[in-house]
Amino acid sequence: MKLLLVGIGTGNPNHMTLQAVAALKSVDVILVPRKGVDKADLADLRFQICESVLGLGDRSRVVEFDLPKRLDSGDYLSDVSDWHDAVAHAWTAAFRTAPNARSAALMIWGDPSLYDSALRIARRLEPVPDVSVVPGITALQALTAAHAIPLNTLGAPVMITTGRRLRESGWPAGVETLAVMLDGTCAFCQIGNASIWWGAYLGMADELLVAGSLPEIADEIVALRRKARARHGWIMDSYILRR
Ligand SMILES: C[S@@+](CC[C@H](N)C(=O)[O-])C[C@H]1O[C@@H](n2cnc3c(N)ncnc32)[C@H](O)[C@@H]1O
Repeated sequence: MKLLLVGIGTGNPNHMTLQAVAALKSVDVILVPRKGVDKADLADLRFQICESVLGLGDRSRVVEFDLPKRLDSGDYLSDVSDWHDAVAHAWTAAFRTAPNARSAALMIWGDPSLYDSALRIARRLEPVPDVSVVPGITALQALTAAHAIPLNTLGAPVMITTGRRLRESGWPAGVETLAVMLDGTCAFCQIGNASIWWGAYLGMADELLVAGSLPEIADEIVALRRKARARHGWIMDSYILRR
């Protein structure tokens, strides 16, 4: 089996590269997770891309599957490992519904290299498929573009981290710029003095952007985030902090 992991950007069909479009057109089947109740907009976007960008009005090459839920037993690594196995089974079962298919693609949010498990899950498939990756626009690229800022200062490094790490370990020593993803609990509130460039629903019609001095605008972001989350039922946000 040939498996293509295709980065589709962060919610704007215009993020699709020509390479991504060509890759999705080249495969026998496109495996698309079915709509979940909480992230309905994201599932819709994948179908919208299939229908409008790829012209697959009849969805003939689209195979839908149910994404298993991750358990929360308190042992994070073991839960993730079990979940990866379950997702690998779901992909295999979906692929087998198209008996003559030799190649499949998955549409990966952003880029497959950044906080995404598809590459790790693909290694659990049996037999191990021939995997190719098509790069996509990441949430961080969408964020820096939306604010029209460089990611790094002159010649300086950047650390990409998660909200959980920032909350548990604080600001890492020797780092000037932090890019923070996967933060469900506003870890920036405990940081103190820094500049922040924050964005939610980047690339989408409801994109939200706030930038400024963290002590002055942290509360505004928390309130905006709470309101937006209530309205959509879900939120994806990312931010850059600089000291
Ligand atoms: C599981 S990671 C996936 C990252 C993705 N592979 C990428 O390349 O951007 C999900 C996190 O990406 C960020 N993210 C993804 N899409 C976003 C969007 N449209 N706006 C803001 N942040 C987004 C958020 O930090 C979210 O918690």
